[in-house]
Amino acid sequence: MIQLKTDEQIEGIRKSCHMLCELLDSLEDGKIKEGMSTKDIDRYCHEWILKRNAKPACLHYEGFPAATCISVNDEIIHGIPKSNHIIKEGDLVSIDLCINLKGYISDSARTYIVGKTGAQEEKLVKVTRECLYKGIEAASQSHARIMDIGAAVFKHADRNGFGVIREYCGHGVGLELHEDPEVPNYVSHSLGNPRLREGMVIAIEPMITMGSRHIIDMPDGWTVVTADHKPAAHFEHTVAITHNGLEILTQI
Ligand code: MF3
Ligand code: CO
Repeated sequence: MIQLKTDEQIEGIRKSCHMLCELLDSLEDGKIKEGMSTKDIDRYCHEWILKRNAKPACLHYEGFPAATCISVNDEIIHGIPKSNHIIKEGDLVSIDLCINLKGYISDSARTYIVGKTGAQEEKLVKVTRECLYKGIEAASQSHARIMDIGAAVFKHADRNGFGVIREYCGHGVGLELHEDPEVPNYVSHSLGNPRLREGMVIAIEPMITMGSRHIIDMPDGWTVVTADHKPAAHFEHTVAITHNGLEILTQI
């Protein structure tokens, strides 16, 4: 069931989202450096959140063992931070974070490039970010439906020769981490296709691969990697449909 949010609830979710945007912004401009471990990044984010009297919503969610999901190169999503996973020059580091601020949940992800990477890797990151904004633009149209988002994301990734993950989707968010509806990055004929309505808060999150779209779920129970071990990228925003139209909440 889709939980429509009141203005007051959206205001609480907005505050949580703005906090998350500030944290992800603080990791831009070369802050993620070669030689750091993914655990170092996790520790930084965890402390940053606690200092602001909020909680990392991923920690212990269905047993997830860390504050952040950090997925490098062929890892697509849900990577577990590790002290022996050392970042190298040219890596694509996807950081996916959820904050719980006074019960209001935000969800956002970005792929950061460490130093200089290959031309095709640069293109993958750029196109994945564009896919997110194509999805958001589709969701902003009047009378838009959920599958308009997936259609727009898929079209942009596909025309650039990239793969689109199907096994994982965006989702409703705000009062819980994963709410209805599912928000796929392709056109699904088996999922519901509700109209976007005032009060809906959803996370749009294209997960795009340089090679094939096929995945492997790793035996750690969390990490999802590309089957061909080519790189992947992931960008995510939490957006709300308000009486003023669509608002990107995780962007200030
Ligand atoms: N943004 C991630 C998602 O929507 C959050 C996952 S938290 C985890 O799937 F605990 F499940 F990793
Ligand atoms: Co999400």
